[in-house]
Amino acid sequence: MKTTINQVAKYLNQEVTIGVWLANKRSSGKIAFLQLRDGTGFIQGVVVKAEVSEETFQMAKSLTQESSLYVTGTIVEDTRSPFGYEMQLKEIEVIHEATDYPITPKEHGTEFLMDHRHLWLRSKKQHAIMQIRNQIIQATYQFFQKEGFVKVDPPILTGSAAEGTTELFHTKYFDEEAYLSQSGQLHMEAAAMALGRVFSFGPTFRAEKSKTRRHLIEFWMIEPEMAFVTHEESLEIQENYVQFIMESVLEHCTLELKILERNVETLEKIKAPFPRITYDKAIDMLKEKGFSDVEWGEDFGAPHETAIAESFDQPVFITHYPKDIKAFYMKPDPDRDDVVLCADLIAPEGYGEIIGGSARIDDLSLMEQRYEEHNLSGDAYQWYLDLRKYGSVPHAGFGLGLERTVAWISGVEHVRETIPFPRLLNRLYP
Ligand code: 4AD
Ligand code: MG
Repeated sequence: MKTTINQVAKYLNQEVTIGVWLANKRSSGKIAFLQLRDGTGFIQGVVVKAEVSEETFQMAKSLTQESSLYVTGTIVEDTRSPFGYEMQLKEIEVIHEATDYPITPKEHGTEFLMDHRHLWLRSKKQHAIMQIRNQIIQATYQFFQKEGFVKVDPPILTGSAAEGTTELFHTKYFDEEAYLSQSGQLHMEAAAMALGRVFSFGPTFRAEKSKTRRHLIEFWMIEPEMAFVTHEESLEIQENYVQFIMESVLEHCTLELKILERNVETLEKIKAPFPRITYDKAIDMLKEKGFSDVEWGEDFGAPHETAIAESFDQPVFITHYPKDIKAFYMKPDPDRDDVVLCADLIAPEGYGEIIGGSARIDDLSLMEQRYEEHNLSGDAYQWYLDLRKYGSVPHAGFGLGLERTVAWISGVEHVRETIPFPRLLNRLYP
């Protein structure tokens, strides 16, 4: 019977054949332990000299790392391994013999591993991170489907910039100028006026020259947009969404979290509602924590976010930022013109901002005023004004950065390990 590693529980004490790669091995005179992987998981294959032909035993001892094989043997329980099963091998058929695989079990530097990212993805930790990423994507579709949202795909080639004009990848679009999308939000607002509650999931591009553990040049964002929804209501959807993702990963990725040595107790505590503090309060907190030079009106950097997050064991919403440091489309607080109805959601344990969102300006004349202040009067932005001309409604939305969320839940330091092929300031390879 041909199967895969993630299905072996169904074949306890039965003989199966699995297509695998040899991840690692150790052997003595009488026994060889082969660490096998097939993409769905990892399992230990045991070859006992006394139970196989001499030829098979010698072959098992001489197999090279990352050679591809068909292995046949019996699935047995193994209470010592976190996976719970091992395979007692009888036959090994070599499909392709690999020589000099560059990533050996010894320690390698990050740059070396990044240069070999196409191979590094095969390793156990990277495999676990990709599984968690996949689970978050699955949970996202489930959550928004269940809440009545429609998946909409905004364009990637655009004529307009959503988040300011300095961080764009520029390209020629025949005779016109075009940019790679920084955010699907503006088009998602149009979609919300057609379909009510919508969400997108796609790649976005930022040409900012940031070299931090939280910044990618190309990253994937989930962007919900909701008609007839207030800022407060949007925060509730955000916290429920984050809790849903967390529960889904905790339920389906137990082994992956163990492989990553993630402290799951801190993750199990994550439950909506999340605390909310205003930007004003955040400034006071920072001053109390010794950031004596922070001034009202400045944006927060990673150290500020981390310091604020330390006071909470839940993600925390920082709301009502000064208008001047936020995007042109954010709706002013009706009680106070200098701040906007927005929130950033800051993850615990120093993983930083995972969501940015706001209520959107729905008043045509105020939007026209913002256009003037931000020099957006060009043709590319005219369609966006139509949304305020024809049946304008209060609406709100947000963007969750997938890689930062994967980093937080997986407990990995740097977002470069949370996407299969990271695009970084100095990296377009592989
Ligand atoms: O805060 P941002 O820039 O918000 C927007 O783009 C809005 N238009 C979203 C919306 O309201 N529809 O980005 C949203 C999130 C951030 O909170 C962060 O998680 C992630 O996207 N993000 C990045 N992730 C990795 N690398 C980068 N360079 C990122 N920039 C933002
Ligand atoms: Mg932001």
